[in-house]
Order: sequence, then structure tokens, then C-alpha cells
Amino acid sequence: MKRMRERASYPHLLFLVFCIFLSHLAPLNGKNEKESVGYGYTIQSVAVDPSGNTLTAHLGLIKSSSVFGPDIQNLNFIASFETKDRLRIRITDSERQRWEVPQEIVPRQTDSSHCFLTEDQHHHTTSSRRPKTHFSLSHPSSDLIFTLYNTTPFGYSVARKSSNDVVFDASAKPNDFLVFKDQYIQLSSSLPKQRSSLYGLGEHTKSSFKLQPNETQLLTLWAADIASFNIDLNLYGSHPFYMDVRSPSRDGRVAEGTTHGVLLLNSNGMDVLYSGDRITYKVIGGIVDLYIFAGPSPEMVTEQYTELIGRPTPMPYWSFGFHQCRWGYKNVSDIKAVVAGYAKARIPLEVMWTDIDYMDAYKDFTLDPINFPLQQMKKFVHSLHKHDQKYVLIVDPGISVNKSYGAYTRGLQADVFIKRDGVPYLGEVWPGPVHFPDFLNPASEAYWGDEIKIFRDMLPVDGLWLDMNELSSFKTSSPTPNSSLDNPPYKINDYGALRPIINNTVAASSLHFGNITEYNAHNLYGLLEAKVTNAALIKVTGKRPFILSRSTFVGSGKYTAHWTGDNAATWDDLAYTIPAILNFGLFGIPMVGADICGFASDTTEELCGRWIQLGAFYPFARDHSAKSTIRQELYLWDSVAATARKVLGLRYQLLPYFYTLMYEANQRGFPIARPLFFSFPQDINTYEINTQFLIGKGVMVSPVLKSGAVSVDAYFPAGNWFDLFDYSNSLSVKSGKNIRLDAPLDHINVHVREGNILALQGAAMTTRAARKTAFQLLVVVSNSGDSVGEVFLDDGEEVEMGGKGGRWSLVRFSGGKEGGNVSVSSKVVNGEFALSQKWIINKVTFIGLEKAKRFQEYEVEFRKRTNLKGKSVIKASLDSSGQFVT
Ligand code: NOJ
Repeated sequence: MKRMRERASYPHLLFLVFCIFLSHLAPLNGKNEKESVGYGYTIQSVAVDPSGNTLTAHLGLIKSSSVFGPDIQNLNFIASFETKDRLRIRITDSERQRWEVPQEIVPRQTDSSHCFLTEDQHHHTTSSRRPKTHFSLSHPSSDLIFTLYNTTPFGYSVARKSSNDVVFDASAKPNDFLVFKDQYIQLSSSLPKQRSSLYGLGEHTKSSFKLQPNETQLLTLWAADIASFNIDLNLYGSHPFYMDVRSPSRDGRVAEGTTHGVLLLNSNGMDVLYSGDRITYKVIGGIVDLYIFAGPSPEMVTEQYTELIGRPTPMPYWSFGFHQCRWGYKNVSDIKAVVAGYAKARIPLEVMWTDIDYMDAYKDFTLDPINFPLQQMKKFVHSLHKHDQKYVLIVDPGISVNKSYGAYTRGLQADVFIKRDGVPYLGEVWPGPVHFPDFLNPASEAYWGDEIKIFRDMLPVDGLWLDMNELSSFKTSSPTPNSSLDNPPYKINDYGALRPIINNTVAASSLHFGNITEYNAHNLYGLLEAKVTNAALIKVTGKRPFILSRSTFVGSGKYTAHWTGDNAATWDDLAYTIPAILNFGLFGIPMVGADICGFASDTTEELCGRWIQLGAFYPFARDHSAKSTIRQELYLWDSVAATARKVLGLRYQLLPYFYTLMYEANQRGFPIARPLFFSFPQDINTYEINTQFLIGKGVMVSPVLKSGAVSVDAYFPAGNWFDLFDYSNSLSVKSGKNIRLDAPLDHINVHVREGNILALQGAAMTTRAARKTAFQLLVVVSNSGDSVGEVFLDDGEEVEMGGKGGRWSLVRFSGGKEGGNVSVSSKVVNGEFALSQKWIINKVTFIGLEKAKRFQEYEVEFRKRTNLKGKSVIKASLDSSGQFVT
């Protein structure tokens, strides 16, 4: 093993020589020419930069194929270690600059000073050297090694030095070669079917979180206004990223749960085919810009991925409260009655929302003068604020074409609309004919920001909801004649029925600022709108913004939260929400939820009850429904109201935990809601789980997802688990197993695992009231080691979370057990905020002590209330009768 490692890093030294010629054109490499496929590219020359981190090759086309347009003759191929955990592979046209995701959107390293061999040098040296079969590139401290194969056609692979496991295998199997045309790029990687579990590649609704390898999956990425109750179709967002969790190899060198990530950073429409033993990308433009993230744990992959694309933006504390929305609220009295309904039922309501109904003729930034008149709205928002509640309104991107409408005339004047044939593109949405702001136009920031400011000066809303930003248009305009943009040669599987890509959106031949085509920029719209809106809200409020966007792209997490769109009130849809939410955690958008109780079609009492039980533990928890459906506010059924009080009660107790996970997401990119394999990668049974998830490391949610069920079969990885509704109810699991749990109609199973310390606060009707209650430390004693936990504290709305010079604290807790003694200590990482506030712990609860009564709960009630900073170590022990003494 040692010898192999040494051998693996040896090529690195070889490459330290500046611009040494390493290859020649000889394509055969011992193979009979007749065996070669005839298509693809061969290596013309290879060079490595002085640092040894970058390998550059020139590729030449072997033979043209006639389908999907002419091939690009010459390509540049660059492989480079951008960090020790991130390898980037770029394949571009050698002669012509092509479209790629702009730097400002996903900032990344640019290709600089790469050393290319000239043809002359090339021919000079080839004659005297034997052809090399392959070239490797490695980084001294990386586990990854890149290999370029001088085969016909050429190929490449990325493997782990530690185990030889190949993580990306494009080593040119027969019929599997690179195709690079103007409007069609195809690349593939072989996968070890039995050992590879793939997650990601969204946005789609799926019944299973793990991509199913036994059928051929066709995953289309093209932002579209397609209801998310449709499974497997392309939906609102585009995230060409997957995580691959590997099972052990036969030789035992790959440990269970060894994970890497792969991003194809490309904004063009694409189909991704996944058959278990192969993944193939068929992309209709741009370049190959492939990133491999080394992991080797799922957490580390998300950390490395978000290091590149940007860490998730922090969300305000209040946004972790419960939200109520509906499309179809009639007027101010209607929404007032809803707020009152929640208060009366004693169900916490933090945020009231209003859909497009509030607008005057569906015009953005206006109020319906009859049903939502300004003075009444002002009073309503004022009253919400007085009760520590918030208000969020929807904004659509389509600006009504109407000469007496300020947002329209100002938009025309600022010349910020997407154009076609030199005039603003005409779409159609709720208000009828509309133009769409072009968020690639730098002037749109001032335009959009001003519109938000004018509106917000009138009505102090607390957040904005960005809908229909795929872009959605109700009408499809006719394609530009003979345009290969509106009618590209390769048809991606838009809407599953091979409909043209311009259906129900802006024509692909339309132009954005700088002559960027909609064809190229289509998938970026939601991201760009969220970015500009985020900046505008910070400018006008000076506070941390809250934005919810339907369409997202790689990096959207830097600006916005997301919900999973138009689901339906069915039991299947309830189950689909788990894979959907887990996916967005992988995509770097941890603040995500689904419409609780279902959006389309009528919900039922039982479904709504089960949905709020699950939804109470979504990172973003909002009840929302469509216009024509029955009402579904949680207080409308006694049983739903009772269950809502119970589960939201626990959510509000867990608010400091959710918020601390937000901090962790912001700092390191970890999801808030996580698949079980994040905490238990060594347990391969967790790879298939679709029906449960974790909040953070150690709180597991096992909901009922079936009508009529009063029990649930839940998988428990090894360890001691404690019911968060009743600590005395515990499970001790030696090695992972399925356990049938009682789940009567009013109950959801939520367990915490040993080894965690949760800083809980009291339940309350608002997050502000909850924050005023004292902390309870729940120390879940671990049999095998220390218990740890932390809590992040700030004012909940400072723009940055944990920023330099900010007023915040992070308090770390650790607890240990020795014989009959347990202790917990705290360490304040940053004192600023804790010093200036009275954060009180008035109770420490140890659970999981085995002596005397198994897993009994022992509580320390402080006689003197203790400041978080004050008493840093609490010691306690069990006396001979098993009583707990301090
Ligand atoms: C589509 C959104 O997905 C939905 O949530 C909203 O209610 C409607 N548009 C109306 O605005």
C-alpha cells in the first residue's frame, strides 16, 4: 500500500518542469487503428505549468459526425487543482470564446498563463520520443489524482490516491467519447454501479432521494414553470451537481461512505442520463467546466462545494417561525381574520403572507385600492409588527405593459427589459402583457432597487417572495425563423414530452444586456433576480433580508430561501417533500420547505395534520394553498390545531438549534435538514432512506406518510435515541435496524441521539417571545464519548451572521461521563453578544445515564439562575441509590 502511494505521487514531480513536452500525436498506443471508434478527439500536445498544479492539452477532432451540427475542430483541455480538495477540468474551443457562467455570478479562478506548446516545438520533440500512454497530475496534499489517456479517442479519469477508486471515469470506453459542437456537448463518466449512490441533479420531484440506478433516469435541467406534483419533470431550478456516496470496494480499500461531489458548471439546458453504471451529460451549449470535490465525507463535500459557489446567506431568526400563506385571500379583513384565528387557537404564527391578490390588477408594487387599500394595509402591517409578527408579499418579474404604471414607464426609460428584435420582449403573465427586467443589465439593480424602495416606503414589508422567475410566460411566442436558438438541433426533454424549449417562457433568441442570449442565460434568471433583490433589501432596511425564490441556480443559496413549488395535497406529495428538501441542502440552499398541507387540490384533516407534523421540522415552514382549494389554516380542524400546537411547540423549543444550524450552514455550507448518511456514512442502509431525515447531526424526524397509519417503520442507526416529546421513551440500537414506532394521529416521532447537547428554549407564540425564555440544556449523555453542542446568538437580523465586528456569540458545550459522574461545560467563542445580554440557562437535563433507572431523566434546577457565561462547568453525580446530586 505504501509503495502504491509513493508511485501515485511520483508523476507530480515529473510535471514540475516548465513546458516540457510530454506527448505526441501518435494516436494508437498499441491499438489497431481499425478498432478505434473514429469519433472523439486525440491529444495533440500536453504541458504543465511551473507550479505543477495545471495540465493543459490541445485536442484535435478525429472525425466529424453529422448529427446536431458541425464539431469544433480544436479544443483546449485544462485540468487543475484549485485547492487540494477541488479539481477542475475545463474543455473549451481553442479558437473562439464561448458562453460560460459569468464570473460575477459564480466567482472562480480564471485560466491564466497556461503554457501551450507550439506546433513547432511539438513536432520537434515528438520524433525523438516514444509515445506516452498517459499523463498524470496530482497535488502533494490531495487525495485526488488526474490522468489523461493518450488513447484514440483520448480519455481522462480522476481517482483517489488512497484507494485507487476512480471517481470520474471518462477514459473513453467504446462509443463513449467527447462530443463538442456549438449546440451539443456530450460527456460521460462510468460508475461502479454496485458501489455508487448518487444524489442531486435537480430540480425534480422524485419518489426516492437516491437516484435509482435500475432504470434509465433522464434528468432535464431547464428552468420551467411546471407544477412540482409532476414527478421526474424539469422544474423551477437548475443544479447540475451530484454527490456520490461509495460503498466499500472488494479489496476493502474504500471505506463505507467515502463521498465526492461533481459539478458541471454550465447554465445551458441539458439532459443528464443516469443508468447506474454511467452518467452522461447532453448539454446544448456553453463549455465543459467540471469540478470534482474530494470530500471524503458528505459534510466535507458540501463544505467544498459551497466554498466554490458561495456559502448560504443567513436567514433572519424570525424566518424560522411558522408562516401562513394562501393564494386567494380576498381582502384585508380576510388576512386579519387568519391572524386572529391563529391567535385564538394559540398556534404560533410568525409571518403572514399575501399572494398576488393584494395587487392592483396584478401589477407589482401596487395595492388593490378596493380590497387591500393602503391605509388598511398600513394598519394591518403595523399591528403585525406590534405583535412581533412579520409580513411577506409576492413579487413577480413580469412588469405590466401599461403607460400609466410607474414601474413600467421607469423600466422603459431605464431601458432594462429583456429584448427581442430590438424592442422589449412581450410576455404574458397575471396582469396580461408584460416585459421582464433583465437582471444581467447592471442598470436593473438601481431600477429594481428603486421600485422596492418606493413600495417599501409605502408599506414596510419584511421580506419578498419571488415567484414565476423561470421565467414563466403564459404565451409562447413563435420562434425566430431558422433560429437554431429557438429551435436547437438537440431537443432536451423539456416537460418530458420533447416540447420546444421556448414553450411558456421567453424565446431563446431574446437578448439580455451585452447581447447575451436567453438561450444561454435562461437558467440564471432566478439567481440574478434574487441577487438584485437581496442587495435592494439590505439597502432599504439595513437588515438581513428574507427572500423566497422559486427559480434557483448554482449559488442561489447566497441570496435566497426556496420552496418546492406547486405540490398537491396528496399523500404521495407529502412523501416527495423529503427528497426535495434534502436535495436543496446539497445544492447549498439550506432554507427550504414545501407547501404544508399541499398547494393544489383539497387537503383533508388527516393529511393536513400529518403534514404540519412533518412541516414543523422543515427548515422553512409555511402553509400555502392554491386559489380554488378549500381553506387549510391549521386552526380550522380541532385535531390539526392540537397537533400543530404540539409540534410547533417543539419547533419553537428547537429554534436556537435551527438557528445555530443556519450559522453552521453560513460558515461551512452544511445543510440544515440532512439525509441520514450525513451522520452515519458508514451505515450503508442509510443510503436508501427517503422517509426520514436529520435536523443537524443528531435530531431525527420519522413522520407518518400514509393515510390511516398509526405506526411508522423507522430506521435507527446504532446508538441510543431519545424521544424529544418524552425523554423517558428511549431506544437502544446496537447496529442499525428498522423499528416499528407508535404514531397515533397526534404524534410524530422525533428523536435525539446520544452525544448531542441541545440548547433549547421555551415554546411561545412568537420567536421573539421564545427568545426571552431561559435556556434548557439537554445533555444526551453518550456511552462512547463526549457529548457536544453549540448555540449561536446574535440579534437575529444583523446583515452578516458572525461577521467581523458584529455583535454575536458562539457558545460551545461539551459534556462527559466518568463512572457515575457527568459534567457539562461551556466555552464562549466570541463574547460580544453574551456579555451584553442576559442569556439564562435555568435547567440542565441529562438523559442517557444508565445507572439506576435506565435512561432516566435527571434535572438540575438552578437555584440561582445562571448566565450562559457565568458558571462554565456543571458537575453532577449519581449517589448509590441512583439519585442525581450536584
Ligand atoms: C405560482 C406559485 O408557485 C404559487 O405558490 C402561487 O400561489 C401562484 N403562482 C400564484 O401567485
